[in-house]
Amino acid sequence: MISLEELKRTRQKLEGPRASLRVLGTEDATEDYSRWLSDPEVNRFLATKGATITELKQYITTKNQKDDCVLLGIFLAGTETMVGTVKLEYIDTVAKTADIAIMLGDRKYAGQGLGGEAMQILIDYAFSDLGLSEITLGVVAQNRGAVRAYEKLGFTETGRKLGVVEYGGERYDQMTMKLQKNS
Ligand SMILES: CC(C)(COP(=O)(O)OP(=O)(O)OC[C@H]1O[C@@H](n2cnc3c(N)ncnc32)[C@H](O)[C@@H]1OP(=O)(O)O)[C@@H](O)C(=O)NCCC(=O)NCCS
Repeated sequence: MISLEELKRTRQKLEGPRASLRVLGTEDATEDYSRWLSDPEVNRFLATKGATITELKQYITTKNQKDDCVLLGIFLAGTETMVGTVKLEYIDTVAKTADIAIMLGDRKYAGQGLGGEAMQILIDYAFSDLGLSEITLGVVAQNRGAVRAYEKLGFTETGRKLGVVEYGGERYDQMTMKLQKNS
């Protein structure tokens, strides 16, 4: 059992066969991380369309200070090569719920199962070590790749609001999904 406080303090890795997760520090605010956020393939369905290294450092610090949030880098297993980020936010240990979000930033590694594996590692940690029973997420319904990845992990749709998201002059639908422990 690794508590959230211990995971943040020790920054130990949560290991999977091909991906591992580690809590981010300000030194992880690299040029690559900054570049991913302005890559149209990555940010097409994200609210954030870019961030400087200074802004990323501030973002990492803010998330680390919040008791109900954990922001982790996704690394190739056994290496310090970071390829994206995954985050649990609004962790509520009374309601036993949290929200998950992911970005597989380095597109060389997209479509190889790393995003799915990274989410599975964090979901397993949330259900076993944090004692949560439900994980929720929000996704643009037209982000078919992400929706498919979430369905493969067992997430099911809980709601949809038509046309409420606007990126680059285009309107999209906002979809919510959930995954229950042992579902
Ligand atoms: C969505 C995202 C997390 C998927 O990560 P990934 O590592 O590329 O996905 P995986 O390789 O783990 O794929 C898992 C499943 O998702 C599906 N999938 C992933 N990307 C897909 C795409 N572009 N089109 C169709 N299906 C896709 C596949 O069905 C795959 O299953 P398969 O192995 O049986 O083919 C990643 O592409 C990403 O971060 N995108 C940009 C940021 C973003 O949109 N984040 C989500 C915001 S809600």
